Amino acid sequence: MLRTSQVRRVLVAMTAFASVAAWQAAPAAAAGPLKDITNRYVGSAVAANPLASQADYRSVLTREFDNVTPENEMKWAVVEPNRGQYNWSGADAIVNYAQQNGKSVRGHTLVWHSQLPGWVNNLSAAELRTAMQRHITTAMGRYKGKIRAWDVVNEMFNDNGTRRQSVFQQKLGDGYVADAFRWARAADPAAKLYINDYNTEGLNAKSDALYNLVRTLKQQGVPIDGVGIQAHLATQYGFPGGYQANIDRFAALGLDVAITEADVRVQLPADAAKLNTQASYFKQLWDGCHAVARCVEFTTWGFTDRHSWVPGTFPGEGAACLFDTNLQPKPAYTRINP
Ligand code: G3I
Repeated sequence: MLRTSQVRRVLVAMTAFASVAAWQAAPAAAAGPLKDITNRYVGSAVAANPLASQADYRSVLTREFDNVTPENEMKWAVVEPNRGQYNWSGADAIVNYAQQNGKSVRGHTLVWHSQLPGWVNNLSAAELRTAMQRHITTAMGRYKGKIRAWDVVNEMFNDNGTRRQSVFQQKLGDGYVADAFRWARAADPAAKLYINDYNTEGLNAKSDALYNLVRTLKQQGVPIDGVGIQAHLATQYGFPGGYQANIDRFAALGLDVAITEADVRVQLPADAAKLNTQASYFKQLWDGCHAVARCVEFTTWGFTDRHSWVPGTFPGEGAACLFDTNLQPKPAYTRINP
């Protein structure tokens, strides 16, 4: 079945053809928005505050993307800051926006060492296991049928490929990962279930560890559907080697792959040369995903430099997104969508 964006593209192509036939010399059709030039889901992380208060932010998001990922609003510390006291306001707002505007949602994220409410760290192993199951079941149950894919387990590896010693790893041992996926499948059987991580774009110790884990999980019949590659890049570190081969090897295991958090930060001040390098990195990310049939999603971690996590985390770096602070497309955008 053709997706809406594909139908739109066929219509645009037919119209262009008819125009050319009629006038022989019609100018090249202007490129459509990003979501119309690909049959992958193309998304952005979204924050509930600007979505509610900035009309231009909302309008560019709606025009360009067909997937949204709540940037912080579904994280455990946000939705259950105190044990048993829930706040779904930001998550609800984003899911409602998606429903009203025909956008797919990537749920982010269920089991993660960061942005954990403090009380989770103080639980016994048995309590932690129960709390983890309840958290997965509650969050996924609330949005059952409205979320296409979930980042079930996030950032569980260190860069050297060993397991991060999170509270889950320390108290529950290796099996917490399989448990999380089984509980997630039970909570919303239709949702695609992903493991997600950063610095796993290329072939390296961390992506090897991720590959070995997901291969084992598949062999054991654990319900995992996909691998999320975050793709937080920086121009000063070079483009990761073996990017497409890495996507290929995950796809060959029978898994979907999603680029889940793409951005390319530069050292400030940005200049034309840096933005050109950034454009080439975004284009390589985009093309590598499109070269592999099972790479089903390309999501960026924010779409405008007006609202990005980068300057707060890496002082002196930024300008990491496809649109500038005035929501004008940058060279990276036009390189992908000329
Ligand atoms: O909401 C509070 C606000 O009340 C308070 O005044 C303010 C003071 O610092 O903090 C606000 O919370 C911040 C939150 O973002 C919302 O803006 C946190 O401090 C800040 O740490 C948090 O950062 C987020 C970060 O994850 C946390 O690790 C970023 O926005 C978010 O973009 C980032 O996203 C992660 C993905 O989830 C996982 N992969 C990496 C990616 C980038 O770090």
